[in-house]
Amino acid sequence: MSPGRVLVTGGAGFIGSHVCDRYLSDGWDVTALDDLSSGRRENVSPGVEFVEMDVRSAEVRDLFADGRFDVVNHHAAQIDVRTSVADPWLDASINLGGLLNLLQAAVEFGLRRFVFISSGGVVYGEPDVLPTPREAPKQPLSPYGVSKLSSEFYLQAFRQLHGLEYAALRYSNVYGPRQDPHGEAGVVAIFSQRIRDGETLTIFGDGEQTRDYVFVRDVAEANLLVTGADLPKDGGLDSVAFNVGTGIETSVNRLARTLIDVAENRVPIEYAPARPGELMRSSLDCSATAAIGWSPSFDLEAGLRETYEFIVRAVA
Ligand SMILES: NC(=O)c1ccc[n+]([C@@H]2O[C@H](COP(=O)([O-])OP(=O)(O)OC[C@H]3O[C@@H](n4cnc5c(N)ncnc54)[C@H](O)[C@@H]3O)[C@@H](O)[C@H]2O)c1
Repeated sequence: MSPGRVLVTGGAGFIGSHVCDRYLSDGWDVTALDDLSSGRRENVSPGVEFVEMDVRSAEVRDLFADGRFDVVNHHAAQIDVRTSVADPWLDASINLGGLLNLLQAAVEFGLRRFVFISSGGVVYGEPDVLPTPREAPKQPLSPYGVSKLSSEFYLQAFRQLHGLEYAALRYSNVYGPRQDPHGEAGVVAIFSQRIRDGETLTIFGDGEQTRDYVFVRDVAEANLLVTGADLPKDGGLDSVAFNVGTGIETSVNRLARTLIDVAENRVPIEYAPARPGELMRSSLDCSATAAIGWSPSFDLEAGLRETYEFIVRAVA
């Protein structure tokens, strides 16, 4: 697809803002929609048009009427598993209500493609196979996981009913510059900030639990690729779902040690009781994503170096 007009929801957030930058550098006309509930205005680069709006609001339709977008890239979401457990209604309201609001406008105004951001960390639950392929059983364990998987089903239904083309990207654990160190989600951001400030790192459990850490600019590249890829027009949920990770399991212990080495600032590590319900292992098989031409180009050390330098610059 040649560059046209793209609406990136959650475009002032951590990943969405990098995705805006990548579309922009490819010549797209980029609009970022965000309600700034966790996103930041300063994440939005010059050249990106910014609209402060809730994805659930009635004004979304007006935006589509004016914008005549070719592509919607949907990153806006309630992203916190624990919030979804405490308030599943809020999670569904943003993650499903917001999606349906966008989908109705997309159908009315003849959108060419919808790129939806799902999560490989939650739709597969505790997987039997590692790295986990996209065809693995889906067994979400939280309302957040259910809302992500349900979203993929809604998209499939809209493709069937209205011919709306879509792709879903199932991310592993994304890290990089602009990630919020105050939330629960970003262990890399939290550790980086604590190392910078010379504070002790706290690891929950024995630290041998693993995650698949993927650098945010590699993730942005996957968004651009899937926007232009040839996609099957029918087939099951998995035929248009793409895992985005490295396929490499990294333990929290190894992550902490690598980050301390990269930062060249020795801080103590302490261990606290494991958090109930935490996944023990996670990594994604991304061979289907490789087949459309994507592979990560940052290894863990290179990605952590960029992230740490950003965190240091943030206080300077
Ligand atoms: N960070 C990860 O490792 C990871 C992993 C899997 C999936 N994801 C998905 O990637 C997407 C982006 O996550 P992120 O890590 O960049 O988090 P983020 O919080 O930085 O981004 C989400 C953005 O959505 C905005 N937003 C929230 N509710 C909104 C609403 N009702 N209307 C408009 N905007 C709203 C927030 O202000 C924020 O800017 C989410 O869909 C998330 O579920 C992230």
